[in-house]
Parts: sequence; C-alpha cells; structure tokens
Amino acid sequence: MKQQTLAIIKPDGVARKLIGPVITRIENEGLDIKAMKLIKMTKEQAQGFYKVHKGKPFFDSLTDFMSSGPCVVMVLEGDDAIARYRKLMGATDYRKAEEGTIRREYATDIEKNVVHGSDSPESAAFEIGYFFNALEIM
Ligand code: CMP
Repeated sequence: MKQQTLAIIKPDGVARKLIGPVITRIENEGLDIKAMKLIKMTKEQAQGFYKVHKGKPFFDSLTDFMSSGPCVVMVLEGDDAIARYRKLMGATDYRKAEEGTIRREYATDIEKNVVHGSDSPESAAFEIGYFFNALEIM
C-alpha cells in the first residue's frame, strides 16, 4: 500500500555534509521524494514537533540540538514507506543499528543520529502537516 512518511536530515547530518549520501540511499531504496526543504527550527518549533517526548529526560537536549542548525525535511512516498525508511535509518541507538544502515554508518551519538523518520501512519500525518501544506507536496 502506498504510504507517505516524513524524513529529516538532522543538524548534525547537514553540518557534516551528509545530505547527498542520505538522499542517495533514499533514492536507491526506490522511495520517491514528494517534497523537500531546508529549514531551521526555533526551540519552540522543535518542542512542538517532538511533543510526544515531552517530559522525557532527553527532551530539552533534543530540542536544543534540533534547533541548533538547519535540517532537511522531506516527504517520502512508496509502498510501505514508513517501515522501509525506518529500516534504512536503523535503530535510534546507532550501536544497535544493523550494519549498512544510515545510523550505523554515520551516527555518533544516540541523540545526534543524523536522521529522523515517522514511526506510524498517525505520526506521519502529524509530522508531514507540521512542515508542509498540500500545495508543497507533489
Ligand atoms: P528520533 O528518531 O528523531 O526520535 C526522538 C529522538 O530523541 C531520537 O531520534 C534521538 O535523536 C533523541 N534521543 C536522545 N536520547 C534518546 C533516548 N534515550 N531514546 C530515544 N531517543 C533519544
């Protein structure tokens, strides 16, 4: 079933010039990029995006990090896009991520883990709508 998911190349990935390598992996996986932009979130915008994690010990540090520099936000589309992109990213903790995944190859820290992807159709709908309006999605 065709699905859309929200993908982010986080500030560490952009600063380390990993936009190209991440997009190459997305394209090699056969996922279609339906929308893409470079943005810099404020602390408040990062708090709104990650509101499901409010109250967790890493929330303040995570939202500082996510508002520390530019991110690339993208809408990806394809059959089973949510699960396929999550497999491509690997586990949140790069030390537990499978060999060959983006995080295993590039992440340096559980927080600075290069990429984000929606974890369910409900979160994809919220996250896509957080950054894009209907006219911006091909
Ligand atoms: P992400 O997939 O964007 O979802 C929440 C983010 O919180 C996660 O990636 C990490 O960047 C960050 N994070 C920091 N510490 C933790 C932790 N202990 N568990 C889960 N996520 C964490």
